[in-house]
Amino acid sequence: MLIQRSRHKYRTKHGRALKAAAVVAGLAVGGAGVGVAMASTSTDSPAAAVPVKGTPGADGVKDSFFPKAGNGGYDALHYALDLAVEPKGKTVLSGTSTMTAKATQDLSRFNLDLSRLTVKKVMVDGTEATFRHKGTELEITPVNCIAKGERFKVAITYGGRPGVLPDSTEESPDGWVTTDDGAMVMGEPLGAMTWYPVNNTLHDPATYEVAVTVPSGLTAVSNGRYLGKKSAGAGKDTFRWNNDNQIVPYQTALAVGKFTLQTGKTESGVPIVNAVDPRQRTASRDILRRIPEVVEWGEKLFGAYPVDTAGAIVDHAPKVGLALETIGRPTYAKAPVSTVMAHEYAHQWFGDSVWLSDWSQIWLNEGLATYAMWMWDEEEGRATTQQWFDGLYRLPADNELWAFPPAKPGKPKDLFAPPVYYRGAMALHKVRQAVGDKAFLKILKTWTAEHKHRHATIEEFIALTEKISGKETRKIFNVWLHSKGKPAHP
Ligand code: ARG
Ligand code: ZN
Repeated sequence: MLIQRSRHKYRTKHGRALKAAAVVAGLAVGGAGVGVAMASTSTDSPAAAVPVKGTPGADGVKDSFFPKAGNGGYDALHYALDLAVEPKGKTVLSGTSTMTAKATQDLSRFNLDLSRLTVKKVMVDGTEATFRHKGTELEITPVNCIAKGERFKVAITYGGRPGVLPDSTEESPDGWVTTDDGAMVMGEPLGAMTWYPVNNTLHDPATYEVAVTVPSGLTAVSNGRYLGKKSAGAGKDTFRWNNDNQIVPYQTALAVGKFTLQTGKTESGVPIVNAVDPRQRTASRDILRRIPEVVEWGEKLFGAYPVDTAGAIVDHAPKVGLALETIGRPTYAKAPVSTVMAHEYAHQWFGDSVWLSDWSQIWLNEGLATYAMWMWDEEEGRATTQQWFDGLYRLPADNELWAFPPAKPGKPKDLFAPPVYYRGAMALHKVRQAVGDKAFLKILKTWTAEHKHRHATIEEFIALTEKISGKETRKIFNVWLHSKGKPAHP
């Protein structure tokens, strides 16, 4: 079969019109089953080594909410993003993403996830590959199959006007948020694919290096260590960020705009970099000074800080109601209060270090981070955990707090709803009362230590509480996490 896969005309930075991978003659494409690179099967091809027969990688990894998010057949190890952002340009974002990955099967074809942006060219190990981009699935067919266990590099040149995913609201966006001086990304659960092609699953953490070129006067911020700024000529600067931590895609950060960079160190020597929109500088000054204290508080309760950077991105997007636990440098749409900062720092352990195994398990992130934030409030003398609990329990049975059990969100919109956060934290309060403070703190520390950089489940958490306390906590979890409706007793 001869198929013309794509025929985009596009322009390079220098304005030269190029014709993309227009026709790849003789390449067997489309349809499931065994794909064999024609180069090694066609009669007139040079004698090749024994051809690898491969099968296509899956186009999803069957998350219970997002079955098509993520892809099978390979393990992404590293992303090197080399991007340009022109907030006022016609093409706002453009560049190349190079993913280094390892095939986990003999691979004839594989997918990445990418929303809205236009792919211009795909190279696999230096050879142009064919591709098809439909919806958020970018399907790539390399000329030769990739043998299981082999490492390969996929360089994708792409660009366009990024934006949020369809389920977003202005207050609660998922993806690329345009701000008045640039952009910021709030990428949970799936918004990472609004700015780079990614294996968009909880199950494929990777390391990152991010270089972003922006018009002079603007700053580009990501996670990780700041490697500095360099002039890129023509009134542009390139900012470089490196991250050796294993990062799940939703935890990657990008913000572009007018920012001041402030640096410091935590007590234990972790470098701090804050990027602050000047309009939020006054409002965030005192709170950002407390980052070392918040990290220390977390270390006392949850064990060693699991990331090698700290800080904050404080942007100015007053209508956005979210903060996000972007790894090592949480992202805020405005100056946070300390309670919110404690919540995002708690996520460095719960979510960024101990990973979700499925989005339906979101309570493991949000229930724990919310309870941690109550503990912070208690230490601060603002409100005790008991006051938090009592105030919430007073809410009537038809309040949305009781709309569904925290361990059973029914749809994507439920992921970040009050039952997960607040009823979820109430569950932990009940368990703490039952097992006592000492056992409870031991549970938290053991959990973060035993599950560091692992995919965890709610069932494992429950089992751990029983193992450490020797008490039947399962009954409490059944009432507070698994059962419908407002529990009959506080
Ligand atoms: N994990 C974030 C937090 O609790 C919330 C992210 C909400 N995402 C969304 N698309 N609504 O701090
Ligand atoms: Zn949270």
